[in-house]
Amino acid sequence: MNFEFKTFDLAGAAREKCDALVVLFSPNLKSGKDPLSAIISSALKAGDLLDKPGKVLMTYRPSDVAATRLVMASIGVGTAKDVRQAVSAAVAGVKGKTVKKICICFTELPCEEALEGAVMAVSEASYVYVTTKSKPEGRDIQRVQFNVPGGLKLKPSYESAVATVAGVEFAKEWANRPANYATPTHLAVAAKALAKLPNIKCEVLGPKEVASLGMGSFMAVAQGSDEPLRFIVLHYNGALKTQAPTVLIGKGITFDSGGISIKPAAEMDEMKFDMCGAASVLGVFRSLAELKPAINVVGLIPSCENLISGGAVKPGDVVTSMSGQTIEILNTDAEGRLVLCDALTYAERFKPRAVVDIATLTGACVVALGAVRSGLFSPDDSLASALISAGDRSTDLCWRMPLDDEYAEGLKSNFADVANVGGRAGGAVTAAKFLQRFAGKFPWAHLDIAGSAWKSGAAKGATGRPVPLLLAYLLALAKAK
Ligand code: BES
Ligand code: MN
Ligand code: ZN
Repeated sequence: MNFEFKTFDLAGAAREKCDALVVLFSPNLKSGKDPLSAIISSALKAGDLLDKPGKVLMTYRPSDVAATRLVMASIGVGTAKDVRQAVSAAVAGVKGKTVKKICICFTELPCEEALEGAVMAVSEASYVYVTTKSKPEGRDIQRVQFNVPGGLKLKPSYESAVATVAGVEFAKEWANRPANYATPTHLAVAAKALAKLPNIKCEVLGPKEVASLGMGSFMAVAQGSDEPLRFIVLHYNGALKTQAPTVLIGKGITFDSGGISIKPAAEMDEMKFDMCGAASVLGVFRSLAELKPAINVVGLIPSCENLISGGAVKPGDVVTSMSGQTIEILNTDAEGRLVLCDALTYAERFKPRAVVDIATLTGACVVALGAVRSGLFSPDDSLASALISAGDRSTDLCWRMPLDDEYAEGLKSNFADVANVGGRAGGAVTAAKFLQRFAGKFPWAHLDIAGSAWKSGAAKGATGRPVPLLLAYLLALAKAK
């Protein structure tokens, strides 16, 4: 999709040739000499246009308007959420083969979050997955022009939103691919390709290198599959080498069958999404290359399949992690924490300013928070509040969860330093407590995205979250310096 930014007023917007013109009006719009404000205010007066975000009125070839279709969409008081709703409804209303170019115009200056929300919402409403269709029909909308009267000072905000969209769509693409099109090797190839972009480097470790690092926990998960594991290391260098990096770790289980502790058959296909954390890290790097903020970022992706074979790890097996801690694997389906713990230990070598891991870690987090907010766990108040603000700013919400030591009780083992599961109660927290044992040497946060990273049901597909949250967090760091 191609984005453009203009600062026309409503008279200028009326002259713009396009397949659909979406006017995001606010209730205090006065009727002027231009055709658009005249139409909207008369419809408002007649009661034909509900002044409620998400409600739209459409007309075809209105007089004195160059666009083929006109969509009037209310944005209420103009919060990011309202604008997103309005844009989604408007785009859904005109989507079709004949709508290739669309103009989205504001009637007054929006706040930064609202403009960013509009950019995100067009992407979301028009996205189509095509990679494994035999007769791919791509997205209809090819060009999107944003029109913000007097909006020149919003250009940077618009640009970061466009770059965020690129990252979100990159993450969605990889997350949506079936597991046989997105193996650990495929992910590594995708990461290598990212390294062709400015300021990005990539290194990929295979089974031999991972073995010599002593990542016994990660290796135990991988051993049940014929697909070789990959440990992907990405670097984004936007600042001096001396500046400590932020490390992002993405869970990259390209398929999670549960292993010997096998999952039920129903909806097991959705476990191809168990690499959404990894996909979000790739997406963030895709955006960083475009935005070039003055920070350093390292991305770590431990990637493998969690399958079943004669060589698979068994419940009760004890493995030695890279940290030296031994782990009793009581449930082979709690594999995410087993690959993440070795990546956390690996992260120590970068002397990071902060480490954030992103994982579709627990069904318990889905029960706790549903699809609305990602679970945030961190013993560090300032890191936690920075991530919460980044989530609010980008409308990619998270919610802080507790980390009391009592939650770790269940992880005690008679045969190793720690067990990989506690009881069922508080499962999302126990998982975080397990990870915390490996994150003592740096400020650390964990995002459980099991509920937020994809949608089930008819609209099954990846959401690209939490790419917007992570980018907002990183951009704020770059700005704060
Ligand atoms: N990938 C799953 C978590 C998951 C489950 C994400 C459902 C989204 C929807 C993870 O590897 C897993 O299987 N976790 C177990 C942990 C349990 C065995 C302690 C779970 O949540 O059931
Ligand atoms: Mn699992
Ligand atoms: Zn999993």
